[in-house]
Amino acid sequence: MNICIIGTGYVGLVSGACYSDIGHNVTCIDINKEKIESLNKGIVPIFEPGLEELIKKNVKADRLKFSIEFEQGIQGANIVYLIVGTDPLSNGETDLTYLKEAAKSVAKYLTDYKLIAIKSTVPVGTCRKIKKLITKEAGHSNFDIASNPEFLREGSAISDTFNMERAVFGVETDRAEKLLRKLHEKFKTKVVVTNLESSEMIKYAANAFLATKISFINEIANVCEKVGADVTKVSEGIGLDHRISPFFLNAGIGYGGSCFPKDTSSLVKIAEEVGYDFKIVKDVERVNYEQRFKVIEKLKEAIGGKLKGKRIAVLGLAFKPNTDDMRGAPSIDIIYKLQQCEANIIAYDPIASENAKKIIPNLKTTNSILEAANGAHALIILTEWPEFQDIDLEVLEKIMDNNVIIDGRNVFSISMMKSLDFYYASIGRET
Ligand code: UGA
Repeated sequence: MNICIIGTGYVGLVSGACYSDIGHNVTCIDINKEKIESLNKGIVPIFEPGLEELIKKNVKADRLKFSIEFEQGIQGANIVYLIVGTDPLSNGETDLTYLKEAAKSVAKYLTDYKLIAIKSTVPVGTCRKIKKLITKEAGHSNFDIASNPEFLREGSAISDTFNMERAVFGVETDRAEKLLRKLHEKFKTKVVVTNLESSEMIKYAANAFLATKISFINEIANVCEKVGADVTKVSEGIGLDHRISPFFLNAGIGYGGSCFPKDTSSLVKIAEEVGYDFKIVKDVERVNYEQRFKVIEKLKEAIGGKLKGKRIAVLGLAFKPNTDDMRGAPSIDIIYKLQQCEANIIAYDPIASENAKKIIPNLKTTNSILEAANGAHALIILTEWPEFQDIDLEVLEKIMDNNVIIDGRNVFSISMMKSLDFYYASIGRET
C-alpha cells in the first residue's frame, strides 16, 4: 500500500519506519525543512532504540521517503495519516492548531478517494470535526475519516509496534475498515473495530487506567511503610491474579512523560465539558504529584532536616529509563525543591543530562555515577536505569561523605542493602 504520514514527530517516525519495514511504501511529510533534510541524510532527531537503523534500512530499500511536498506524498496514497503534535494549551485544552493545519493541507490535494486516519491523541469528537473541516476545504466528501490511536511506549516503541497487542479502528465505513485491516495484516494483531468516538476514548481510558494503577500502588506503598509491609511483595502477590496483571505495579516517585500527565488532564477536561466530574482521575493526578516529594521527606529524615549546603547526588533524570526525554519527568520538581532548600546538587543520567539542563536552570551534571557520588552527603535515585543496579556499593561506601541512599525507584534489594553500611530508604519498604 502507499501510505503518507503527515508529521515526523516521535509517533510519526516510528509508525513510518515500521509500516515501511513490513513492505508498504511510506512518505513522511513535515513542514520543518531542516528536519526533513536531516532525515534524508539519515540523522534521526530523537533517541529511540533501533529507530535509526530501521529508517536507514527502509530508506535504502526505497520504501521510506521524507519530503516537505504535501502534494508528492498525498497523491497516490491509499491512506493519509495525520500524526502531528496535540499538546495542551496553558488552559488545559488540547491545541488542535497543527492538526487543523495538516487537515487543510491534505484537503488541498484531495483529488481522489483517500482514507484519512488520525493517530494523534485527540479529544473525543475531534475526528468528526476534522471531517467537517476537510469537507469544507476540499469542497467534496470523497474520503473517509478514521481514528487509529497508538499504544507504543518510548524506549520500546519499535517492538511495541511490531508486536502490538491490539489495533483500534474507529471507522464509519467498510471501505475504511478494509484499508486499515490491509495495512495491519502483517502485524497479526487483534483488532477492535468501533465508531470514531469510542476509538478516541479508548486511548484516554487506556492511559488513565495505567496511570491509576501506578497511583494506586503508590498509595499502597505509602501505607505499607506505616504497617511494616513490603510493596514489592504486595505487587507480586496481587499481580499474579490475571485480572490484575503484574504490569504497572512498580511503586516509586510516580509517572511522568509526555503522555500520562497530558492524557489524564485531558480526560478530566473532556468529562468536565459534558458536565461530569471525573473524581478518580483527578485523585490519580493529585496522588502522582505528591508522590514525587516523598524522596525529599525521606532525605530530610535521613540527614536531619536541613539540606542547605549538603551535597546531594541525583542519579537519573529522564522520566523513565531508555529515553533522553525529560517531558513531565518527576525529577524536575524534585530538583527544584532541592534547589529551593539550597542543596548542592550534582546529577548524573546516562543520556538525559543535556535535555535536563535546558529545563532546569543551574543544574550541575557529571559523566559518571562515581563522580556524582564522590563526597556526597546523600544519593537519590530518580530513574531506574539498568546500570544503577550494577553500582559497586562498596566503592560508594568509601567515596561518599555520608552513607545515605534514598531510592525512589526501588532499584536495590532490601536484603542486599542490609549487608552494607548504608542508611537506605526506598518506597513502600522498610528503611
Ligand atoms: C505511555 C503508555 O504506556 C503507552 O501505551 C502510550 O502509547 C503512551 O504513553 C502514549 O500515550 O503515547 P510512555 O509514556 O512512553 O507510554 O511510558 P510508560 O512506559 O508507560 O511509563 C510512563 C511513566 O509511568 C514513567 O514515568 C514510568 O516511570 C512510570 N511507571 C510505569 C511507574 O511509575 N510504575 C510502573 O509500574 C510503570
